[in-house]
Amino acid sequence: MEMDQQLYYVSVYLHILGSIIWLGGSLFYAMVLVPALKNHPARKELILATGKIFRIISWITLGIILLTGLYNLHYHGLLNNLLFESRAGQLALLKMLLFAFIILLGLLHDVWLGPKLINKTQKYPLIRWIARIMVIIGLIMIWLGIKIVRG
Ligand code: HEM
Repeated sequence: MEMDQQLYYVSVYLHILGSIIWLGGSLFYAMVLVPALKNHPARKELILATGKIFRIISWITLGIILLTGLYNLHYHGLLNNLLFESRAGQLALLKMLLFAFIILLGLLHDVWLGPKLINKTQKYPLIRWIARIMVIIGLIMIWLGIKIVRG
């Protein structure tokens, strides 16, 4: 098997694995951890402690997803005018735009609002809605990934 093709398989593998870790972790947070800790006496400390670790994992996996996504596009010969002129390219472009939005929301959530609102989330659901919107976009990204390769 050619080196290029082997690299492509590794890239798709890491792309999917990164998606599983980032999306799976975010879904676990929203659907299990936060509801389970709702009335827990150490809620703030536990969310902060787990949040600090997951934040690092999130940014590393988003970095891996982006690099492997670009390599996947390169392998499909889409990193040129075909990005604008082909259907697969346009889907990938939409993915990149949504990804930029995920990064923006991630910065809002982790860097700006998170530290500020940790004491007040009961009253300000905004931070939870940002996390939910990121997960919804993540689910759309999987669909777009499937469509890029299968048309
Ligand atoms: C949170 C962000 C993302 C998620 C959750 C995600 C998820 C996925 C998944 C699950 C697949 C596999 C689909 C399949 O094999 O049927 C896929 C494929 C793909 N993704 Fe992403 N992706 C994300 C971001 C990106 C970005 C930013 C790019 C481009 C820079 C990108 C480009 C691609 C390409 C080109 C494929 C096709 C790979 C192949 O040849 O099989 N993805 N994506």
